Amino acid sequence: MSFIVAIDGPAGTGKGTITKLVSEELGLTNIDTGAMYRCVTLQALRENIKVNEEEKIVKLLNNIDIKLKNESGKLLVFLNDVDVSKDIRTPIVDEYVAKFAALKCVRDKLTVLQRKIGENSNIIMEGRDIGTTVFPNANVKIYLDASIEERAKRRYKQDIEKGENITYEEILENIKQRHILETQREISPLKKADDAILVDTTNLSIEEVKNKVIEIIKEKM
Ligand code: DC
Repeated sequence: MSFIVAIDGPAGTGKGTITKLVSEELGLTNIDTGAMYRCVTLQALRENIKVNEEEKIVKLLNNIDIKLKNESGKLLVFLNDVDVSKDIRTPIVDEYVAKFAALKCVRDKLTVLQRKIGENSNIIMEGRDIGTTVFPNANVKIYLDASIEERAKRRYKQDIEKGENITYEEILENIKQRHILETQREISPLKKADDAILVDTTNLSIEEVKNKVIEIIKEKM
């Protein structure tokens, strides 16, 4: 038996933060699927592989090992047993990830991996297509949204805190471009599942979003 909570929505809606807080409070395993797409992208960039080099990407996918670990309250991401938690969240990965995430071979591989993780587990999984494609029968589906300006503002704050040398305008442009790529791609585009509950986080604090999400989940537990 498994209990699956699907959290979808675009970049900068607070999915990562909310999923982590809710997983801790409700004792669910937190799975960040964006981190998996970021690992594939990071490895492709390291090997100098272009988005149109399908054969090389398939080979890369066959040799890649991605593990997510929760260690003392921190979500760590391992790529071929090396901690890449920081390396996957840089502006260069931000720039390319939506392009690699649009490829069928990449999505097929990661979808299988995500479904395997959900077998016989109680999880909260966040991404873009969890409620629509990965787990269409999830016990709870939530779609987080926010205005594009608010999303860019949040990402900007995060990046500046990390010491990245980037402007608000560059981030806003990246968020806009990614939004187009993610919502208009052919395979598993970002889309609210018909039966997902929409939470608009534009004017809500993290605490308020967390409480709302917990309330929705508890109703179905
Ligand atoms: O949530 P994030 O920003 O870390 O996600 C990184 C990228 O991965 C994002 O541009 C879209 C893609 N992604 C996806 O296509 N499907 C998912 N389930 C999760 C992420």
